Formats: sequence, structure tokens, C-alpha cells
Amino acid sequence: MNKLLGSMVVCSMVCTATVWGAVGGGDIVFPLTGASNVTFGHDTHVVKHKQKCGDCHYRLYTTTAQRKDVTMVQMQQGQSCGFCHNGQRAFDVKGGCTKCHP
Ligand code: HEC
Ligand code: HEC
Ligand code: HEC
Repeated sequence: MNKLLGSMVVCSMVCTATVWGAVGGGDIVFPLTGASNVTFGHDTHVVKHKQKCGDCHYRLYTTTAQRKDVTMVQMQQGQSCGFCHNGQRAFDVKGGCTKCHP
């Protein structure tokens, strides 16, 4: 019974988060010093461009608290945004800088 109650509490937290946080994790900011900040939109990716939660979680990302920063060079080798932004599935991280760094 306690176990059941526990999972109901967890479920209601997750469900609430997906309702008030727009879509998934909402807007995610990457604060940077060498370039302008990047804001990743769950909304744009999930709703506008039809990407599935499982395309990114948890192979590429978990949460902002557990973030492991990557460099642009690592992205060009297929990590993080570069997993899709490779000129095939989406515009290439080798260009289009201002699309992500406005
Ligand atoms: C195109 C990739 C992508 C897709 C698709 C995606 N996410 Fe995310 N998600 C991210 C990124 C990037 C982060 C930030 C991770 C980081 O900072 O390392 C994140 C973080 C999160 C977080 C944590 C937010 C925080 O502030 O720590 C939640 C919750 C989340 N996503 C839920 C979802 C759900 C639910 C879906 C499907 C509806 C989804 N995501 C789809 C990329 C994605
Ligand atoms: C698809 C989105 C995207 C594109 C396109 C992109 N970036 Fe980035 N960039 C990011 C994100 C996200 C980070 C932060 C990554 C992290 O901290 O995990 C970042 C980090 C950086 C950094 C700091 C890390 C490092 O490698 O020194 C610099 C500088 C940078 N970008 C420059 C550029 C330039 C110049 C271009 C164009 C040639 C570019 N970026 C294109 C998303 C992008
Ligand atoms: C699972 C694949 C995937 C990952 C990972 C991913 N994207 Fe995208 N992204 C897409 C697709 C698909 C599009 C739409 C096609 C295009 O614009 O080339 C897109 C479009 C975008 C756009 C244009 C949004 C618009 O207004 O239409 C931006 C900006 C962007 N991504 C930033 C990022 C950043 C920053 C990251 C990393 C934090 C990232 N993406 C990771 C698949 C992905």
C-alpha cells in the first residue's frame, strides 16, 4: 500500500511537471562565456519538429543538474546537439552559429 502510494506521488509530480513546464523540460539555457548563451526549446523540438523524448533521453541528456558540458568540437563529432545537427537530420553545427547563439 505504501509502495503504491509512493508511486502515485511520483507520478503526480511528473505529470504536473509536464503540464506546467510547457513541453518536457521547457526552455533550457546553456550559459556561456566564449559565445552568446544558447536556449534549447523543448517546444520547438518536440512539437514543431516532432522529436521524441526517447530520441534525446537518456542517451544524450538527463537534467541540467547532471549536465556534462561539451565543446563545439565534440558536437562536430556527434555529441549533444551534434548527434542530430550534422547536416543530415538537422542543420550542421559547423555553421548556422547564430541559429543557436543569437
Ligand atoms: C531534441 C532533444 C530533446 C528531446 C526530444 C527532449 N528533450 Fe528533454 N532535455 C533536452 C536537453 C538538452 C535537456 C537539458 C539537459 C542538460 O542540461 O544536460 C533536457 C532536459 C529535460 C528535463 C530536465 C529539465 C531540467 O531543468 O533539468 C526534463 C524533465 C525533460 N528534458 C523532459 C523531456 C520530455 C518529457 C520530453 C518529451 C516530451 C523531452 N524532454 C524531449 C533535450 C531533449
Ligand atoms: C545546434 C546548435 C548550435 C550551433 C549550430 C552552434 N552551437 Fe556553439 N554551442 C551550442 C551549445 C548548446 C553549447 C554549450 C554546450 C555545453 O555547454 O554543453 C555551445 C558552445 C559553444 C562554445 C563554447 C564551447 C567551446 O567549444 O568552446 C563556443 C565558443 C561556440 N559554441 C561557438 C559556436 C560557433 C562559432 C558556431 C558556428 C560555427 C556554433 N557554436 C554553432 C550550440 C550550438
Ligand atoms: C534528436 C535530434 C536533435 C537534437 C539532439 C537536437 N536537435 Fe535541434 N533540431 C532537430 C531537428 C530535426 C530540427 C529541425 C530541422 C532543422 O532545423 O534543420 C531542429 C531545429 C533546431 C533549431 C531551429 C528551431 C526552429 O525555430 O525551428 C534550433 C535553434 C535547434 N534545433 C537547437 C538545438 C540545440 C541548441 C540542441 C542541443 C542542446 C539541439 N538542437 C539538439 C533535432 C535535434
